[in-house]
Amino acid sequence: MLTDVFKKLLTDRFSERVRFDVPMSEHTSLRVGGPADALVMPTDTRELMDLMKMLEQTGVPWLVLGGGTNLLVRDRGVRGVVLSLQQGFSGIKIVKSDIDNILVHAGAGARLSALCRYAQANNLQGMNFAVGIPGTVGGAVIMNAGTEKGSVESVLKDIDVLNVPDKPETVSGGSFSFSYRGLIWDRSMIAESGHEPIVLGGRFELSTAEGLVDQAAEEEQRARRRQSQPTGYSAGCVFKNPASDMSAGRLIDLAGLKGLRIGEAQVSEVHANFIVNLGRASAADILRTMEIVREKVLQEYGVELEPEIRIIGE
Ligand code: EPU
Repeated sequence: MLTDVFKKLLTDRFSERVRFDVPMSEHTSLRVGGPADALVMPTDTRELMDLMKMLEQTGVPWLVLGGGTNLLVRDRGVRGVVLSLQQGFSGIKIVKSDIDNILVHAGAGARLSALCRYAQANNLQGMNFAVGIPGTVGGAVIMNAGTEKGSVESVLKDIDVLNVPDKPETVSGGSFSFSYRGLIWDRSMIAESGHEPIVLGGRFELSTAEGLVDQAAEEEQRARRRQSQPTGYSAGCVFKNPASDMSAGRLIDLAGLKGLRIGEAQVSEVHANFIVNLGRASAADILRTMEIVREKVLQEYGVELEPEIRIIGE
């Protein structure tokens, strides 16, 4: 819980860009989750640095929200400050162009779909893998978002970070590496407090080399996704694909779990690795469904499924 003094400090500094007791269900694609004590939307680096100083001085916990498309927030919500970079850190522009290599800078708060559209409008190749992936650029970087066609690591050149309490800097390979659906910071990048750096944006190395972007192929990719994935409230694939030769979706499907319903949470009938919120699901409904799915797949196939979605809050 935040003190009244701290709330006043936030209000004085951020006015309409701070809100209190904000239901996280309104900020996540799964539409579940209790309130965050505060949601702050700094519009530039100066404001962000001021905010981080205030948080550091008071010891109030914080976390960064991306697009909320891969997130399960528990029912009692999030203590401390949730910060969103979607207001001031969402620009996309070409920052350097050689004959066939183009660097595009995108802010962490920009939608990944906006970056895909920008690439398409400028006839740039490289973002094709990301067509149809929801969420923000920041979230995509941290999750090494991808499909079978590729992932962020294949195009990301460097990352702008704020490593509290330092000034923002741009870091490249050596400061981070990637795993399947993850970004791993080098130890030198982790703050004394244990916090990972805040991702402010990144530069994506795209190319013009292969000629015009195949718009028909991209539309087909979107259509395939619309057909093979549910459109209701969800957080995308719930579990990582295991190292076995069968995908998580296939295993859950074979275990006969499609349609399994707990409260208002349901294993999707369309794609078994999605759990959809039928409207009024609680986080507890979703978590219980995940637990049953994990147990059944372990029992039947000896495979331990690991969540892909991030679970936060109390
Ligand atoms: N399958 C089933 N039943 C199902 C779902 C899938 O039998 O209910 C089978 C499919 O027929 C296919 C195989 O499982 O043979 C793989 O399915 P799919 O092509 O849908 O790919 P996926 O591995 O389940 C991955 C990503 C998705 C991404 C798609 C398309 C992960 C965990 N999932 O899904 O990403 O959209 O490929 O590129 O990597 C996400 O990250 O949130 C996400 C949805």
